[in-house]
Amino acid sequence: MELKIERVPTGVSELDRLLSGGIPKNFVVAVTGEPGTGKTILLLHFIAKGLELGEKCIYVTTEESRESIMRQAAQFKWDFRSAIEEGKLAIIDALLRPSEDEFSLKHLDVEELVEKVIQIKRKFGYGHSRLAIDSMSAFWLDKPAMARKYSYFIKKVLNPWNFTTMLTSQYAITTSEAFGFGIEHIADGIIRFRRSIRGGKLRRYLVIEKMRQTPHDLHLWEIEIIDGIGLKLIRPAIERVEDIALPYSVRSKIEEAKRKSEKELP
Ligand SMILES: Nc1ncnc2c1ncn2[C@@H]1O[C@H](COP(=O)(O)OP(=O)(O)OP(=O)(O)O)[C@@H](O)[C@H]1O
Ligand SMILES: [Mg+2]
Repeated sequence: MELKIERVPTGVSELDRLLSGGIPKNFVVAVTGEPGTGKTILLLHFIAKGLELGEKCIYVTTEESRESIMRQAAQFKWDFRSAIEEGKLAIIDALLRPSEDEFSLKHLDVEELVEKVIQIKRKFGYGHSRLAIDSMSAFWLDKPAMARKYSYFIKKVLNPWNFTTMLTSQYAITTSEAFGFGIEHIADGIIRFRRSIRGGKLRRYLVIEKMRQTPHDLHLWEIEIIDGIGLKLIRPAIERVEDIALPYSVRSKIEEAKRKSEKELP
């Protein structure tokens, strides 16, 4: 049995470095976070990198139309339209779901999704392929309790088909009960995006929360999305008080010692 782990580059080179080279091949990685934080853009990187390496790719879009995904990709200089025409990329449109289109879903249904993915993969043939599903949450919108079961089903059924997969799941405070938890336990890895306002400016962050079989970086990284380039890691985020706070009993002892020493000053 081969024990060396083959890794798949994400397309964001700094992120690959933090992952000891990339995502272990055939993993299912959940990408979660609040709206507008960079999930879709990371998935586009992942697909663009696959195309660059000559791998066949499938992108499932439930939040935006196929056209919208192609336009967003073009802003980072990735020509998805040509890749589709050359049979290297399939974008399954699950938003507009044009019924005459062989690459669309008729219903937002996990079984139909998996069937469609396998049908395309059969055409692609053997060899490693990349699969991006953006987002999984859409498939259990009206039945959040099914999140875990559906995620498990997808992972299990697609397992023999030699994909490395990135799935997004939306996560917001108001919807935390409905989304997020289904995927996260079945996923082999979790990349979480976050955002905050600091110095009057929106800042975005990323942290690798989980990656099985990987000695990965544990920092929260500030990121930027740059026109024409895509996602860049800038620096490890400045530690926040909440992150570094010591237990209250320890803190009060330190405070007391400080007061004493200040009193002793001449
Ligand atoms: N060409 C561009 N140049 C710079 N920034 C861009 C560009 N295109 C998009 N962005 C930024 O990226 C953000 C969208 O990121 P993305 O679509 O990856 O978010 P998301 O996490 O997928 O959000 P959602 O959960 O709503 O789908 C935009 O709000 C914008 O700030
Ligand atoms: Mg998105």
